Amino acid sequence: MCGIIGIVGKAPVSERLVESLRRLEYRGYDSAGIAALIGGRIERRRAEGKLRNLEALLAEDPLEATVGIGHTRWATHGAPSVRNAHPQMAGRVAVVHNGIIENFAPLKAQLQAQGRHFESDTDTEVVAHLIDRELARGLEPVAAFKVALDQLSGAYALAVLVQGEESLVMGARRGSPLVVGEGQGEMFIGTDALGLGPFTNRIIHLDDGDFVAINHEGVRIFDRSGQKVDRALRVVPAASALVEKGNYRHFMEKEIHDQPDACQHTLSAYIDPISNTVASRGVDFAAIDRLQIVACGTASYAGMIGRYLFESLAGLQTDVEIASEFRYREPALRPGALALAISQSGETADTLAALRWCKERGIMTAALVNSPESTMAREVDVVFPTHAGPEIGVASTKAFTSQVAALTALAIAAARQRGRIDADEEARLAGVLLEAPRLIADAILDDGWIPAIAQDIAKARDVLYLGRGAMFPLALEGALKLKEISYIHAEGYAAGELKHGPIALVDEATPIIVIAPSDALFDKTSSNMSEVIARGGRVVLITDAQGATHAPDSVKTVIVPACDPLIAPLVFAVPIQVIAYQVAVLKGADVDQPRNLAKSVTVE
Ligand code: AGP
Repeated sequence: MCGIIGIVGKAPVSERLVESLRRLEYRGYDSAGIAALIGGRIERRRAEGKLRNLEALLAEDPLEATVGIGHTRWATHGAPSVRNAHPQMAGRVAVVHNGIIENFAPLKAQLQAQGRHFESDTDTEVVAHLIDRELARGLEPVAAFKVALDQLSGAYALAVLVQGEESLVMGARRGSPLVVGEGQGEMFIGTDALGLGPFTNRIIHLDDGDFVAINHEGVRIFDRSGQKVDRALRVVPAASALVEKGNYRHFMEKEIHDQPDACQHTLSAYIDPISNTVASRGVDFAAIDRLQIVACGTASYAGMIGRYLFESLAGLQTDVEIASEFRYREPALRPGALALAISQSGETADTLAALRWCKERGIMTAALVNSPESTMAREVDVVFPTHAGPEIGVASTKAFTSQVAALTALAIAAARQRGRIDADEEARLAGVLLEAPRLIADAILDDGWIPAIAQDIAKARDVLYLGRGAMFPLALEGALKLKEISYIHAEGYAAGELKHGPIALVDEATPIIVIAPSDALFDKTSSNMSEVIARGGRVVLITDAQGATHAPDSVKTVIVPACDPLIAPLVFAVPIQVIAYQVAVLKGADVDQPRNLAKSVTVE
């Protein structure tokens, strides 16, 4: 993930841009750069590596200006280098970008066919050319910006400088965070309030699809249709400027909405979007004979989803066990296996102990963690990162989907290494996986259906979640989400298990949430649904449009964007999170800090 900043100011801008980038460096530090307007022209300074390299460059070759943009990069397209550092420029336009433009390749080809030359391997440079092309056609900057944005697919937060526009920085967000800051006769735009903290705490959080034009007097905000809109201005208390909720009522709600960004940045650590190859980050999966996953809670459900993929794609025997059981039962695990811990915090006591048990027996250890400085990350042989960003809500959401995304990528890499798929299939699967951030964003945007369902569930005493295949761990996760934040008893079951006991629980008072994409298992799950309906159960079916056509009239359906089975766990995770969140809000629960829980269980 990257950090971006834009300033239409009165004071010297270079130092201010760097100060902001220093606060955003946690988001990535492969390179950094700024661009500023000097005498109507745009001048740039860029440096590879940490921000201090840019500072050294500016000390030698300063930029004296008051309007500019800046960027600290976490490389996605194009290796870390000065050439690929932002700001990227084309003609009169300079752009900084956080996100991935999914359709940059065809757009680049179209622009090159029109005679435009590119200097970098980045996706971002395409945006600069698109805006510059519209300016050359005579459009004024904001109109040119809108035309360019309408051609983009994928996730982005952008800040744009236009040569000759002395009091203008434009910005836009879709799937990646962006805020506007209000100063005294000056305005700011940036990734989050933390980045604007040195200049203002008067923050406007933009909605997905919004684009803006800031000048010395203020800001014009437009929604995705181009309609001028207002967005609430909030005074962000300095203390929470470190991580703040923005327009959201709870961190959990914000983190649900952060998932496209989190998923895409996690995937950037595994998939090269140019070659569509998937990296295994140092592990040779052909050399291991067994994968043992250990984790707790939601992380263990991510591991269960990974197991379906490692076995079906890579033919790798995979076991998943909750760490608190694994560590006490003397498992028959020998060297030649890989022990993989999954943990958002990287500090969970039981998972750490299970890892240490394996390490003591000479078993290779890896950790899939969201905290690169955590104890687990420091103790294992291999670290697999997720880049979900700080997750404040106790109920894990973006960390979970980031874990599933990383595991899906690793299963593809393992399948390739073990000779189960060829390069073409690897590229195809990687392409499918790279679609996930957009489909997660679509699933989030489609949540209008939930309040009615949440009203019903909020009254229940017990709730059952059913799923088959990789949807079974999602059923477990949905039940955990509901019970940990709304305190309603819920259980997740393999749909095929219903007849072996749990169906005795079914009555008119028990909502049954069935998670079933229209895949090869749909018909089987549909039969289970009929068994429940026949006994008076109230079914909520989470499915795609195809599946919904087979739903009985008595069933409430929640329709999820249609997607490839490979990424169904990622897309279908959204409704089970949103249902739990909406129910907890209806019940007035302490959503972000539910009773008895802590974000990281560092005690046994
Ligand atoms: C998930 O919503 C819970 N907060 C909990 O199950 C959590 O996933 C579990 O404690 C594991 O935490 P970790 O990922 O930090 O190891």
